[in-house]
Amino acid sequence: MTKGWTKSDWRTRPRIQMPDYPDHAALEAVEHQLSNYPPLVFAGEVRALKRKLGQAAAGQAFVLQGGDCAESFAEFNADSIRDTFKVLLQMAVVLTFGAKVPVVKLGRMAGQFAKPRSAPTETVNGVELPSYRGDIINGFDFTPGARVPDPARMLQAYTQAAASLNLLRAFSTGGFADVHRVHAWTLGFAEGEKAERYRELSNRISDALDFMSAAGITADTSHEMATVDFYTSHEALLLEYEEALCRIDSTSGLPVAGSGHMIWIGDRTRQPEGAHVEFARGVQNPVGLKCGPSLEVDDLKRLLERLNPENEPGRLSLIARFGAGKVGDHLPRLVRAVQEEGANVVWVCDPMHGNTIKSASGFKTRPFDLVLREGREFFAIHNTEGTIPGGVHFEMTGQDVTECTGGVRAVTEETLCDRYHTACDPRLNASQSLELAFLVSEELSTRRAHLAARTG
Ligand code: PEP
Ligand code: CO
Repeated sequence: MTKGWTKSDWRTRPRIQMPDYPDHAALEAVEHQLSNYPPLVFAGEVRALKRKLGQAAAGQAFVLQGGDCAESFAEFNADSIRDTFKVLLQMAVVLTFGAKVPVVKLGRMAGQFAKPRSAPTETVNGVELPSYRGDIINGFDFTPGARVPDPARMLQAYTQAAASLNLLRAFSTGGFADVHRVHAWTLGFAEGEKAERYRELSNRISDALDFMSAAGITADTSHEMATVDFYTSHEALLLEYEEALCRIDSTSGLPVAGSGHMIWIGDRTRQPEGAHVEFARGVQNPVGLKCGPSLEVDDLKRLLERLNPENEPGRLSLIARFGAGKVGDHLPRLVRAVQEEGANVVWVCDPMHGNTIKSASGFKTRPFDLVLREGREFFAIHNTEGTIPGGVHFEMTGQDVTECTGGVRAVTEETLCDRYHTACDPRLNASQSLELAFLVSEELSTRRAHLAARTG
């Protein structure tokens, strides 16, 4: 598949959004150390995920990808991993009900540390310092020392990712136990027409689960209820780290990124001849490609060829992130280019990154209504084009943060400051995430009804 490719080839390509480490000897020592550590994920798991994503490309599964914008060293603890995992499972149950197909669960977890930035420096009260680039690269504190890229941070990121995965693997064998309390999820929602609709849907889900348990399908009797397939993903931005964790799969003899099950290429680093595409094209993991408004059809076609020359199902997910009101300007031309090429892709909607604004109170936020609107536009265009909406991608957390405005338990511009904890972009809180799952679930069941009516 990638004849002649080596894991260091990206070094000959133009690199952007990556740090210049001042201490070369320290960098090399860390790279050497990491290259001797065990990979965090294994080739068999990566292949299993690719098969499932291949089903999503064909409309026989639906992808739910979510988690932090940036994982942080300071906020790392078992409770927040557990809560995010739990909310993702709840969302998955709600989506399964609407889609009537399996939901592929992918965390932005256990490796999501490196951040591209729109400006290389930031200025506060007249002081200019290099931008924060994620805990794997430099520190969040606004001091000259913290902002120096430090390769030792890669070792801490590896350790945190390994501990996170250890916990996630343990939770995954705990099954869907607490998902049976589906009624309780909507208790916190205020009264009103929307809350009523969610309650009705959760009653139906609850009935279905009661029926299954009456029929003897429980965590004790069913493998599906007792275990959860959960995968990890992150933006493969820091290529020194990615290269050091790249391994040869002993079964296929092909290279695998050992840093996470799926890796993606950000909207700022998707140059077809650039370093990030060069690295991703050589590993056999599923790869995501962020598609923003500046992506031209010709570049997309070159990227399809470079990233998936054999047109393997599940290999490539196109993660659309245009902004509410702009989906109609961009998605149709890209969807048609994919059709023209006969390319096998999973279309995923990221309704977060095109909808970031600065609130009057100075916080970076995302209005829930815009997130929702972009989601609706994504589905509408796939319905018109006759293509398949394969999944959704959110920045979210299981914690009760106040980072995005709106939702049934409304966060307002005034209350943003109450619990604003993100190290980077604003995340949906537990209640907003669940609300979005209900809304996407409704879209999916409407779509199913239309398709059924059409095929008659
Ligand atoms: C992200 O997913 O956190 C991100 C930076 O996205 P994008 O590359 O789409 O801007
Ligand atoms: Co982000």
